Amino acid sequence: MDIVVSCLKKGLRGEIVIPADKSISHRAVMFSALAKGKSTIKNFLYAADCRSTAGLFKNLGVDIEFINENTLTVNSKGILSPYLPPLDCGNSGTTMRLVSGILAGQRFDSTLIGDESLSKRPMKRVITPLSLMGAEIESNDGRAPLKIHGTALHSIEYNSPIASAQVKSSILLAGLSADGVTTVIEPYKSRNHTEILLEYMGADIAVEENRVSIQKSSLTARDIFVAGDISSAAFFIVAALIVPDSDIIIRNVGLNETRTGIIDVVKRMGGNLEILDERIVSGEKIGDLRIRYSDLKSCEINGADIPRLIDELPVIALLATQAEGETRITNAEDLRNKEADRITAVVTEFRKLGIDIDELPDGFIINGKQKIAGGSEVEVYHDHRLAMTLYIAGLIAKKETLVKEFQWVDISMPEFLSLIQRL
Ligand code: S3P
Repeated sequence: MDIVVSCLKKGLRGEIVIPADKSISHRAVMFSALAKGKSTIKNFLYAADCRSTAGLFKNLGVDIEFINENTLTVNSKGILSPYLPPLDCGNSGTTMRLVSGILAGQRFDSTLIGDESLSKRPMKRVITPLSLMGAEIESNDGRAPLKIHGTALHSIEYNSPIASAQVKSSILLAGLSADGVTTVIEPYKSRNHTEILLEYMGADIAVEENRVSIQKSSLTARDIFVAGDISSAAFFIVAALIVPDSDIIIRNVGLNETRTGIIDVVKRMGGNLEILDERIVSGEKIGDLRIRYSDLKSCEINGADIPRLIDELPVIALLATQAEGETRITNAEDLRNKEADRITAVVTEFRKLGIDIDELPDGFIINGKQKIAGGSEVEVYHDHRLAMTLYIAGLIAKKETLVKEFQWVDISMPEFLSLIQRL
């Protein structure tokens, strides 16, 4: 589905409730599948990636029933059943990497496959530590398909070379069934939804700054309410900041401090963003955000910022085009390993819209206060976040923008168009 976006003549106004968090929705299904008993998951993200996870655990013999799109029950015996055909992770890196850690310690063999984009993404980052735990995984030179020969695992202490929640979570999930204490140390703290939800479900887990340890544990089924996704909210936050005369409220936004890098950046840039009514759901902080059109100034984004806003960087690069001065984003080399190479893709497609942006090996340099020309066709490279970023760019471009294959938005936010139209 190609879509034409034209310049907005007036500001975004009103309120939306942001759809559920993708990372937490995946984990809610996975951990409930490992727990004995019945869990009800409320406010689940009914998007393609999370449906891949639910479908995969159904194939592994777990009783998963959707009461409606956003509520499901997971009824599990606490053990998974063998499934001989390949298990399809679709476009979802989180599914493939976390499930690898779960399947490595099972008593049966399994094969994980993914779509064209996922089949190109690096899996050595999980194969290496899991192999150190005794896992037997065959791959296509470090990429999917992954053939996992289930076996007994032993604990390790792993110094991860990258701050990646997917790597950390894969090891911790393997550690759930391994003998001894499994520890992961990260260079910077990555998102900690695995730690929060595993603790909520009774795992023996301890966190000390960037160091997480887990012991063999069984999980208890619990009801889980999934917080809203700040990575999805990011598109509306940026839209309100850059479309003149905007003033919006976004409700139920997850405000876990390992994810709120975008809020810090918006504040550093002088953006008008207020947090209202903070509260806790299933161990996670949430709140409502009010965002108004703002005069922005540039800033530097690097180091420990990066894991706290990694998925928001394409739309933050767009935000920077509207700020006074030059914004440098560095230390974000892992952006090249996402659903697309998000550094080259952003630079290539932004330039088609007439944006002045320089490519760095590990990020971007963006000049501020730019007028966006538009009047062109842009590609999304099978990448939902690029699709939404380019759509928002179109809202302030002088001429119409044609975003090709916009249906990729379904990976994380099928509701995107109806929400933006409501505003
Ligand atoms: C995710 C972690 C991040 C993020 C991805 C979801 C997760 O990846 O980019 O969209 O749910 O754990 P890395 O852990 O590889 O940085």
